[in-house]
Amino acid sequence: MVQLLQVASLGVALSGLVNAHGYLKNVEHNGKLYPAWQVGQDEYLPTVPTRYVRRVKDVGPVMDFTSKDITCNQGGNIPATGIIDVRAGDKIKLIWDQWGSSHSGPVMNYLAKCTPDCQSFKGDSGPVWVKIDQVAYDPTKQVPWGSDCLARNGASWTVTIPPTISDGEYLLRHEILGLHVAGTRMGAQFYPSCTQLRVTGGGNQNPTGVALPGAYNPDDKEGILTELWRIQQGQKNYTAPGGRVWSGAVPNTMKC
Ligand SMILES: *[C@@H]1O[C@H](CO)[C@@H](O)[C@H](O)[C@H]1NC(C)=O
Repeated sequence: MVQLLQVASLGVALSGLVNAHGYLKNVEHNGKLYPAWQVGQDEYLPTVPTRYVRRVKDVGPVMDFTSKDITCNQGGNIPATGIIDVRAGDKIKLIWDQWGSSHSGPVMNYLAKCTPDCQSFKGDSGPVWVKIDQVAYDPTKQVPWGSDCLARNGASWTVTIPPTISDGEYLLRHEILGLHVAGTRMGAQFYPSCTQLRVTGGGNQNPTGVALPGAYNPDDKEGILTELWRIQQGQKNYTAPGGRVWSGAVPNTMKC
């Protein structure tokens, strides 16, 4: 047991070294906290308590965003043991351990219906990912980038489950794209996570979206292979990858 704790604290110390990165730590719904996979802790536990977000390997970005690691991050895309019961139209708050302001870029949120259920669904093929929320870059705002808005809100993001989607189990894929080294090919840093939800009280909509992997092209000069400073100096417009937000989505209301 003593050895186990020593290993655990070493893990915490190491993850603290790369403190510009981060990971989704908790999900809040109706005032209740639902823990994600706890990086630097759960790896060392003989029995991991109920988690509601799929395992991630560490706090770093996905190394190859054209691979299946882009779907739910580099933890093997293993179903979590828990699932959060929500109503269509509810707000979900996604809380990171931290987020540094040097990693600017868009924040994107997608839903994929788990067929037949989340215990057997990976979401790594076919156009299953429907973009339901996005804040990319708006120079007219006080805080132009989505990721900086997240940082200003206590490293958290609030998203609304579309009121008209059909009932069922879903993965909520919440993602920050850090563009600080995106001028180098494959330098864009994606930080996705997959939260498991069971939605009731919805409508009859079953939209299709994009495939992940597939939708993120390393040569996309509008959203992925692009220099942050050119955008910030107004030399270039920015369009986030992954297509448009679905028309049935509720616009983001976070203040920045
Ligand atoms: C960005 O888009 C706006 C609106 O379409 C356009 O007026 C402007 O010229 C574009 N800027 C650049 C640098 O391409």
